[in-house]
Amino acid sequence: MDYQVKSEFVENLVTPCVVLGFYHKRKLTPSAALLDARLGGLLEKLLKRDDVDGKPGEVLVIPHTPQDEVERVILVGLGKKDELTPGTYRKALAAAARALKDAHAKQAVSALHEAEVQGRDLGWNVRQFIEVLESSLYRFTELKSEPVNDKSRLSRLQFLVHGDSAIANAQRAIEQAQAIAMGTRLAKDLANLPGNVCTPSYLADQAERVGKQYKKLKVKVLGEKDIDELGMGAFSSVSRGSEEPARFIVMEYSGAAAKTKPYVLVGKGLTFDAGGISIKPSANMDEMKYDMCGGASVIGAIAAAAELHLPLNIVGLVPASENLPSGAANKPGDIVKSMAGITIEILNTDAEGRLLLCDALTYAKRYDPAAVIDVATLTGACVVALGRHPSGLWSNNEALAAAVSEAGEASLDRVWRMPLWEEYQDQLKSNFADLANIGGPDGGSVTAACFLSRFTKDYPWAHIDIAGTAWKSGADKGATGRPVSLLVQYLIDRTQ
Ligand code: BES
Ligand code: MN
Ligand code: ZN
Repeated sequence: MDYQVKSEFVENLVTPCVVLGFYHKRKLTPSAALLDARLGGLLEKLLKRDDVDGKPGEVLVIPHTPQDEVERVILVGLGKKDELTPGTYRKALAAAARALKDAHAKQAVSALHEAEVQGRDLGWNVRQFIEVLESSLYRFTELKSEPVNDKSRLSRLQFLVHGDSAIANAQRAIEQAQAIAMGTRLAKDLANLPGNVCTPSYLADQAERVGKQYKKLKVKVLGEKDIDELGMGAFSSVSRGSEEPARFIVMEYSGAAAKTKPYVLVGKGLTFDAGGISIKPSANMDEMKYDMCGGASVIGAIAAAAELHLPLNIVGLVPASENLPSGAANKPGDIVKSMAGITIEILNTDAEGRLLLCDALTYAKRYDPAAVIDVATLTGACVVALGRHPSGLWSNNEALAAAVSEAGEASLDRVWRMPLWEEYQDQLKSNFADLANIGGPDGGSVTAACFLSRFTKDYPWAHIDIAGTAWKSGADKGATGRPVSLLVQYLIDRTQ
């Protein structure tokens, strides 16, 4: 899709489709009022006739106007003017996106971003529109044999903007949004692919393919021999139970001077998690193909950062494996030795994500990082604790926790901080090893984070549990691409 800034007066606009906002009680936004004057009061009249009063997300489509210059009008309800929150605006955008798709126009112009959203600016408004539209137009059709015909015809969207600084802001927002949309799409595509296609090797090949697209991005892939030689005994113990060879994906983006400390992103890359010998129940087990969403979001975020030429050094680490039961799989009670030298008693083979992550987090030390953020579909308990709206956040560093939370608010890809208190650490005691890999039934998402915290003492670290946010179940089953938007926002914020 082509996004552009258009500096044209509504009075002179020529377009097959225009998207405009109106508030509660049919109060038109400035651009809508100008168009209404041009159309001789048609908009007000039709709103009144159809009893559309401006609730957030209400839409009135006028498929034919009497003027050939403006063929269609999509009017989008924004609710009460002084109550326009970011969430309400987003709801209105989702409705606008659906209407745009159904309108079958190839090109459209929008002025919805002129609405004053609480605490946000023009650039944010534009960026959200693009992100919402892209996610609403997304379809995963790679594996359908018949062509899918509900594709949108829209190929160009223009934002009406006036004044030099506003134009520059909107332009920058378009660039950022397109890079984020690209990274999000990549993450979704990887995640939606089934486990028999998206194996650890496939994931590594895709990361290498991304690496070839950017001069400043180097991608290397370590195989099982390298993983063993590094002493990653926790990681390799999980992979041993599956026929698919493990991969450790290392992406290094150099946008700043070599001595500048990098930001390291670590993503859990379980391309299928059956639980191992502690096998999962069969209901919805297909969704465990999504257990690599953390890894996919790291690959997507790095691609977006490279696309934006961010002046930072960024490293992406994705330990990739399957977790299956077999004669070679981990057994409850097994004790393995991590790269950090800490021995781990595996009391439940389904708590495998932390076994991969602990070794990747130890590997991260070699970069002397400015900060490390790991992203993982780590625990069902996180979904019980927080539901599916925010991702869970844990951190050993106040400034980092604040920065990640702010990036979440800014991108509306939100997180909610959870405790990492000393008291929980006792639940991870083992009679036979340094550490147990589960902490009992209580506070499962917290004890998982506590487990990781044992391996991250040497740098500022944040852990994001995306078990509730990485994909949707049910009729809309599909990956969300979260938290690519948050991660890229966090990185953009580091450049200011
Ligand atoms: N990948 C799962 C976590 C998960 C489950 C995410 C369901 C999203 C939906 C993870 O590897 C896992 O199995 N965790 C266990 C941990 C338990 C054994 C301590 C869990 O959450 O049940
Ligand atoms: Mn598991
Ligand atoms: Zn898992």
